[in-house]
Amino acid sequence: MNGFPALLDLTGRPVLVVGGGPVAARRARSLADAGADVLVVAPEISTEISALGVRTRPRPFEAADLDGVWLAMACTDDGAANSAVSAAAEQRRIFCVRADAATEGTARTSAIARHDGLTVAVNGGDDPLRAVALRDAIAAALDTGDLPSRRARRGPGGHVALVGGGPGDPELITVRGRRLVAEADVVVVDRLAPRALLEGLPADVEVIDCGKSAHRQNLTQAEINAVLADRALAGKRVVRLKGGDPFVFGRGGEEWRACVAAGVPVSVVPGLTSAIAAPAAAGIPLTHRGLAADFTVVSGHLDPGRPADEGIDWPGLAAHGGTLVLLMAMERLDLIAKELIEHGKAPDTPAAVVHSATLPEQQVVRARLDEIAAAARRAQIGAPAVVVVGAVVDVLG
Ligand SMILES: C[S@@+](CC[C@H](N)C(=O)[O-])C[C@H]1O[C@@H](n2cnc3c(N)ncnc32)[C@H](O)[C@@H]1O
Repeated sequence: MNGFPALLDLTGRPVLVVGGGPVAARRARSLADAGADVLVVAPEISTEISALGVRTRPRPFEAADLDGVWLAMACTDDGAANSAVSAAAEQRRIFCVRADAATEGTARTSAIARHDGLTVAVNGGDDPLRAVALRDAIAAALDTGDLPSRRARRGPGGHVALVGGGPGDPELITVRGRRLVAEADVVVVDRLAPRALLEGLPADVEVIDCGKSAHRQNLTQAEINAVLADRALAGKRVVRLKGGDPFVFGRGGEEWRACVAAGVPVSVVPGLTSAIAAPAAAGIPLTHRGLAADFTVVSGHLDPGRPADEGIDWPGLAAHGGTLVLLMAMERLDLIAKELIEHGKAPDTPAAVVHSATLPEQQVVRARLDEIAAAARRAQIGAPAVVVVGAVVDVLG
């Protein structure tokens, strides 16, 4: 059939569903969801249908059931009964969908996906499974942002989403994060965010790059805070795309506060932190029955020689039996290892450096704690890297 696709406004309009089983229940539910005034006619009405709260007549179909109806659905498991419904509907010029034999009806239903105000309806010729397969693929691609569904701007209100991009592999961002990136007007991106996602952005999306090298930020934190607020106040959908999780050594809290102070709506999308992803990518479980029941994540950014540094309790960490995970520690790895050993950590405690985890250039170096810094130097690996210290490092071989 070379049909004509149309979206019916059924709000408040009487529609008829003939049948009392699961197919009739599905159709009755979607018609009710569309606001139709649904009447279900069948000798036996299932509890599923009764629970919908639609009108029911527990008896066989009569032609008069079609009086005043805009659309009919023949959904019994009896071909002859469905035929009778569709013939009676045809006589009254009422469109009728047949659940048992689509080609025999005068209308067909579509496989439907709804996404952020969009309705996608797919018809698969005479093969409903084709339509369902295509509908599912489209729905998944809309969810991930692989298919653009950029919403036209509604009103002046902008907002900021602090999106955790995961450790670097573009497949390790959340579905929501990916979708927000695809819908953004402005993306303010960190060096360690999954930058591969930027390649697919439309040309009119403003990309503001905050970091070019390991040690240099293009913009100060105050400038980043200002640009987020500025663009959102101009009505833009702003995504602050960060590496890992925004709230794990990501200064997401400061950006959140800056948005609130500027009166800008802000939300956070959690990300897979490198503290967990990097060890996993190197085959290191952070906890393992009998070896480590907990793990501690610490910034190695500050000099461990200074006792007041960010309240990091190096003697306590050295004494603790759990796994230690260090971020931003490469510059001071010698000092940190020395400090841990001086406070009682065994020099032969297994340790690993995971560089550029989840990216094609990922490298892993394993050594004893007292040799790990030298081993990393020999391998010429530095930041970005996550350091893991503890017996779990070698547990999977
Ligand atoms: C400023 S912190 C940001 C952490 C981030 N918010 C997170 O949750 O992963 C930067 C540090 O994260 C670590 N890091 C981030 N991505 C990494 C990766 N792909 N491989 C290894 N380490 C990474 C490194 O220790 C790096 O110096």
